[in-house]
Order: sequence, then structure tokens, then C-alpha cells
Amino acid sequence: LFGFKTNRVSGYFEPISPSKQDKLLLPKGYKYDVVAAMGDVINEAGERFGDGSDYNAFFPIDGSHSRGLLVNNHEYTGIFSIGPVKDGVLTPEQVKLNLEYQGMSVIEVYRDEAGVWKMDTKSKYARRITGFTPFELTGPARGSSTVGGATTVQGTFANCSGGVTLWNTVLSCEENFSETAASAKLNDTHYGWVVEIDPFDRTYLKKHTALGRFNHENTAMGLSADGRVVVYMGDDKKDACIYKFVSSGKYDSSKGRQNAALLEDGTLYVANLKSGKWQPVTLEAVRKVIEDEKFKAPAGVSAKREELLNKFNTQADVVVFCHEAALLVGGTPTDRPEDIEISPFDNTVFICHTNNDSHGNIHGHITRIFEAKNDLGAAEFDFEIFAAGGRQSGFSSPDNLAFDSNGNLWVVTDISSGSQNKGVHKAFMNNGLFVIPTSGPSKGQAFQFASGPVECELTGPFFTPDERTLFLSVQHPGEETKDLNNPTSRWPHRPGDTKARAAVVAISGFKLG
Ligand code: FEO
Ligand code: CA
Ligand code: CA
Ligand code: CA
Repeated sequence: LFGFKTNRVSGYFEPISPSKQDKLLLPKGYKYDVVAAMGDVINEAGERFGDGSDYNAFFPIDGSHSRGLLVNNHEYTGIFSIGPVKDGVLTPEQVKLNLEYQGMSVIEVYRDEAGVWKMDTKSKYARRITGFTPFELTGPARGSSTVGGATTVQGTFANCSGGVTLWNTVLSCEENFSETAASAKLNDTHYGWVVEIDPFDRTYLKKHTALGRFNHENTAMGLSADGRVVVYMGDDKKDACIYKFVSSGKYDSSKGRQNAALLEDGTLYVANLKSGKWQPVTLEAVRKVIEDEKFKAPAGVSAKREELLNKFNTQADVVVFCHEAALLVGGTPTDRPEDIEISPFDNTVFICHTNNDSHGNIHGHITRIFEAKNDLGAAEFDFEIFAAGGRQSGFSSPDNLAFDSNGNLWVVTDISSGSQNKGVHKAFMNNGLFVIPTSGPSKGQAFQFASGPVECELTGPFFTPDERTLFLSVQHPGEETKDLNNPTSRWPHRPGDTKARAAVVAISGFKLG
């Protein structure tokens, strides 16, 4: 039995065992409601919920814990939304569907008198944001030649995880954008950004270029000791870096959403894990490295000094080609940094390094950063491996993280569909949701709370403020399906369903503390 007590709820659960079943399994006493699944109508205009559900954020309406707006990211599509892709080339109709099923949804959800969470399709707020929705660029790349002079761009897609800002908006992260941009013949410098939306205002849609362009996983926002906004970000790619953005100006809670201007002006840093220093990713720092007489270009680009000198001439160039700039200034390549969360207790920063098979890091690990003097704005840090994936800890390939109010980490796993239930991953079976205490006798140990259906990953854990409900996405169930007549999963198994659907569920059963 695993006991937990947060500031809001307390209870016990009997950890479940890994499972291969095509079910979302939970401990005894807990249940889930499917709130919205791929293709469901979300509003009176007839717009439909997207595919590839990932990040969730819940915004109470009028302070309610049982009615609010739920923002969900739609990361990618699959055979169930756009159909089989022949020879890797999308038809024009599939290109359109691919852009429509990605992006984000804002839906209104409520818990009815019987305790069942449902979507309110009569909501005045419910809407889709897709690969066609116009976004305004902010920051150094706005209007620059590096992005073809663009000040507004078409749509958002590949929206993986995200974060909530201190001013009650959502940051959503464009991760694996290249393929979708290429298939739709869109300019790929317009994607790979952190986008901001306001769930309560459909006219507010921004892409903040000061936060860099790379395979963004999520954002974790906090404040430095002197009141500046700090945003931690991972670049989910093999051998990619950990970043933090520190605003020039200070946060002022009385200014509400106007604080978003802080994300347009500041310094982007990359972590050097050898020196324990945050290195500025600025034009000045990049040029200094390239122009140095002793410059030795990294392996493979040794003949490219001239090219680099031509490439990096403005801060727009630096943010657009961020990964390359970060490596030049000393950023340390890591094993696919996924979600990052700031501990609400001690300002330490937790990072999931999901895995990197080219380094033999098959089960991944969770890194914990200790900023100097506990100041998120610090220029120096130390770090430890907080937990390593593998049989001993009980989890493999950690991905998204959420803290409860007592410092337990809720961690979902992402063993890729093709590797599940096989080889070194066999014992872990389907992907799951685990609770890992960050202090006390069970620190670093994983207790399994959920097991997902076949070939899915669980994503986007997000608690309501009273912690009685946990929203969770079930992403890509049945992903290995090749034949629509013979799907490998039919989850969520609603009456009449002939195929699997990505969906958001509301888990309840947590007892008031
Ligand atoms: Fe979309 Fe990095 O997972
Ligand atoms: Ca994913
Ligand atoms: Ca992820
Ligand atoms: Ca992942």
C-alpha cells in the first residue's frame, strides 16, 4: 500500500502491476471518465477534438473545482485520424486532415451530480486551434529575414507538452514539427516555437521567438530571487540541451496578462553540465566563439567556419538555429530532455531524460538541478541523477511530470510502441503512470498508479486545484495498427467504436484530506 497525503487530499492506493491489457487500469477505489476523444464534437459550431492528445491544463471557471476550461495539446495524427499513408506521402486530403487534427483544443468540462466528468459542448469558450490558425510572432525573429520577414504565421502543430504561466495563460510547445511542415510545404522556420494562448480569449495567439526554436517539449515557469520570469525548457532530441530563459524585466502580478511582454525580452541560456554554468545563447557569445582564433569547429563541421560566420549575424539567426548556437557556446548534449518541473518546495528542478539508445541509456533517468543559492535566476548550478529508470526503480523512459502539493512526482512513461513488451522493455509491459516521492523513506522509488491500453503512452497529467481530479491523456493507443479492419487497440471501447481513439480522461477517487 502506498500512502500519500497532499495539502488537499490524503489516502492510500495499492500499486498496480504492469499489464498488457487493452485497458486503462487504475488502483482499487479509483475510476476514470472519458472526457473527450479524437473526433468528438466539442462545440455548437461542430468543431472536433484533435488527435494525439498530450498536455492538459485545467482553468477553473469562477473558482470552481468542478467546472472549468481544459486546454489539450494535439501532438500528431495516425492511421485512425488520417488513414493509412501510402509510401510515406500524404495525399492533399491527408495534408489538410493532418493540420486539422493537430494543434490544440479548449473545451469546457464539468463534474455532474453523479460525480462523472463530462464535456459541455454548449460552451461559449470551446474551440479548436489548428495548423491553419494564424499566430503572431513576437521577439527577435519577428519580421526578420531569417523567417522570411513574417510577423504572423500559419497555425501551430506538433504540440507536445506545455505549461501554465503566472498570468493564467497556456504555453504550448511545438516539438516534432519538421515532418508536418514539410508535408504541407510550409516554411519550417515558422515552427518549433513556444506558443501562448489564453483559454478565455480566442483572439490571443502568439509564438514567442525569444525562447528559441528547437524540438520543444514543455515549459516550467518560476521567478528568480529578484522577481524576473524564468522558463525552463527541454529539447526532445537525442543529444540535445536544457535551456532556461530569464526575462529582462520583473514580474508584476497586478499587470496580469501584460506580463507576457516579459517573454519577448530577456536572455536565453543553455546548461553546461561540466562547468555547472548557464551559458548565454546570444549573438555576442556565438560570434565570440566563431571569431576566436582558436576556434575549432565541432566534429563534422570543421570546414564550416565561414558558413557559421555568415549564418549567425543577428539574434534572430541565433534563436532560429538555436540548437547549433547552443552547442557553439558550450551547451551539453543530453539524453533527450523531456518534461521539466520546478519543485514547489525547494526550487530544485526535475528533468526527465527519457532515454537515448545510441548511448545505451535504454531506461532513461530523472535529473535534479540545484540552482546556486536556490535562485532560479542563478548563473551556476549543481545536479544529481535523482532516479534512474530500470527494474530496480520500477519504471522505464520517463516523460511528463506533475507535482502534487506534497512533493510527490507523478511520472508517465513513454516506451516507444515498437519496443513495448519486448526485449529489455518486456518487464515494464504497457506504458504507465507512477508516483515517485521526492523525500522520505521511499524517495526515488516508483509506485505504479495506472497502466495504459495497448501501444499508447500516457501524457499530460494535471491536477485540479483541489487535487480530487487528475486529468490525463491517453496518446496513440493502437499506434502499430497497419490495417484499419484489424486494429491492435479499440480503446476507449465506447459502444459502436471500431477503432482506437486518443482521449483525455478525468481520474477521480482521491479522498478529501
Ligand atoms: Fe512529444 Fe517529447 O514527447
Ligand atoms: Ca509523445
Ligand atoms: Ca513527451
Ligand atoms: Ca516521449
